[in-house]
Amino acid sequence: MEADNGRRWLRWPSDPARARLAYGADYNPEQWPRETWDEDMRAMRAAGVNIVSLAIFSWARIQPRRDVWDFQWLDDVMDLLHANGIAVDLATATATPPPWLTTAHPEILPVDRHGHTVWPGARQHWRPTSPVFREHALRLTRAMAGRYRDHPALAAWHVSNELGCHNVYDYSQDAAEAFRRWLRGRYGTLETLNLAWATTFWSQHYSEWDQILPPRLAASYPNPTQQLDFIRFSSDALKDHLRAERDVLRELTPGIPVTTNFMVMGEMKAMNYADWASEVDFVSNDHYPRPGPGARDELSFSANLTGSLAGGRPWCLMEHATSAVNWQPVNLAKQAGGMARDSLTHVAYGADAVCFFQWRQSAGGAEKYHSAMVPHAGEDSELFRSVAELGATLAALAPVAGTRRRRADVAILFDWESWWASELDSHPTSLLRYRREALDWYSALLAAGVRADVVTPVGDLTAYPLVVAPILYVVPDPLARRLEDHVASGGHLVTTYFSGIVDQNDQVRLGGYPGAFRDLLGIRVEEFGPLPDGEAVELDLGVTGTLWTDRVDLTDPATEVVATYKTGEQAGRPAVTLHRAGSGSASYVSTRLGPEGLAVILPRLLDAAGVTSELPPEVRGLVDVTIRTDGTDDYWFVINRSDRHVDLTALPGAPLRAPSLATEAVLAPRRVQVRRAPARDGDSPRPPA
Ligand code: GLA
Repeated sequence: MEADNGRRWLRWPSDPARARLAYGADYNPEQWPRETWDEDMRAMRAAGVNIVSLAIFSWARIQPRRDVWDFQWLDDVMDLLHANGIAVDLATATATPPPWLTTAHPEILPVDRHGHTVWPGARQHWRPTSPVFREHALRLTRAMAGRYRDHPALAAWHVSNELGCHNVYDYSQDAAEAFRRWLRGRYGTLETLNLAWATTFWSQHYSEWDQILPPRLAASYPNPTQQLDFIRFSSDALKDHLRAERDVLRELTPGIPVTTNFMVMGEMKAMNYADWASEVDFVSNDHYPRPGPGARDELSFSANLTGSLAGGRPWCLMEHATSAVNWQPVNLAKQAGGMARDSLTHVAYGADAVCFFQWRQSAGGAEKYHSAMVPHAGEDSELFRSVAELGATLAALAPVAGTRRRRADVAILFDWESWWASELDSHPTSLLRYRREALDWYSALLAAGVRADVVTPVGDLTAYPLVVAPILYVVPDPLARRLEDHVASGGHLVTTYFSGIVDQNDQVRLGGYPGAFRDLLGIRVEEFGPLPDGEAVELDLGVTGTLWTDRVDLTDPATEVVATYKTGEQAGRPAVTLHRAGSGSASYVSTRLGPEGLAVILPRLLDAAGVTSELPPEVRGLVDVTIRTDGTDDYWFVINRSDRHVDLTALPGAPLRAPSLATEAVLAPRRVQVRRAPARDGDSPRPPA
């Protein structure tokens, strides 16, 4: 299927025009004897699997020595899959270099900030900037593309795997040289770099490029702009690797789409996916929740953000878990219904492919206790039966394929640069967590029954009546202008503590905080008031603030006080403000209120922006709702986010029937209902920004 912008979705080998959702897993047949492969084919068909990702960790098997290649087994697997109607997302197999390569070329191994070599023995032990690694990886990529370019099972290319999962920060000599080249590209002259990095501080002035190093272990805090640039550089270095493999694939197989699996989840923050997304033909993501109170909303948030990265086009959930993972301190099995609920949440936010790690649970190796579609217990298991039910459910949801998620009225602005820079060391507090604050707002909006799109600064904000920009710490001039223009043209902005503080060089905007937004917000902050861990302050609306307070002064009579500090150093001062400008407004929240506190002030902020819930009162806050539409039919994905039974009778449309979908009028905990309703008059599908 051709998506817009010339970017493509999976190339289905058989019946390409048929609408379908993809369903499958990483498939690692090399771990099993040949007989098992036949069992695999039968069981895959029984489960409704129509795609697998193949050869992700197969380098050592495909190329056992420098000039010895063994493709025969992979040819057989490709043929077998095709004969069974299963498409292949084929990896370039470059994710982990084989022992012969690391033995012959130990100079490809990463070096940590202490100067220690990261040795082989696990996976992904390669320097993103190593020319030697690049040469070998591209040789393999070329061999794979040459071998399988015409194979009928080939539906997509999968570059490497989870780029940067273990090797993003490398402090080696290769990295130092590449960092200097990157800095020359960014700054042009050493003088510009010295100014940007404020090297007059602590005697750091550079007089030659070769004096510059990655921020290796230092006596105290490394220069913060050097740190920020090293993070930017490290994301770019992996992006370069992605592009290098992709360009080989595009040269040899121009008709096959290229993807790589992102890690939009939890605290995985090193790769700026807002910047990577345009490099692939379609976006793929891996998602593993960390169990805990916010886990369900975090999954929704990640899926929502991935949908925005995909620009509203179909995207692939490349990996998630059927049940337990193996890499947490205690690895809990998913509760009944949890797997389908998680999978369908991704579909709700635009995924047209649902895949797992992995097909058959390994008997040996580091991930043998990680769940899979076929568990150690075999097909005669509750888990496999629910896997097959999910397959049937996705088949029944085929009409949803290719539909677009309707845009929400609220955008939560998510900015990798602010994430990186706001959490650097030597700050007013080390307790600040950028993503947690964004997630708090997301949960509070869900609790208010208001849909929000999680968008990046790359996207268009103008269509959103309300933009929430939590901890927007790094604000280059063009972004400041865009947000000013948004408010000037009648839009509404809400921002929080530690926003508008620095420019792109991490240099403070002077004259009182928040320098970029002082006039817009009609406030001035002379001093930050971070709170010790465990300390809280009371506000007058019966809500509690933690983490941070500000000494807020109002600078414009038009600035209204929404909430005031009752206790603490700032008692009597404004805690939450709202500044009207024409028909727009800009609001400021100077403390961490958490989802519960935000829920108390949110009605006032939504009201100022004219945003209302589109849900009937009896379901508000209890369900997570998205609407996918083809312009004729709307598909309401209704996901229970509560521990209660929720009466859905007031929602439009009628429930679709499929084994994993709830069809009753009352939605039980962990259940999902998909309701089809005629598209609202005059509403065309509007993808998120
Ligand atoms: C990542 C990897 C997989 C596997 C899973 C386990 O997503 O890509 O190879 O290790 O984690 O959760």
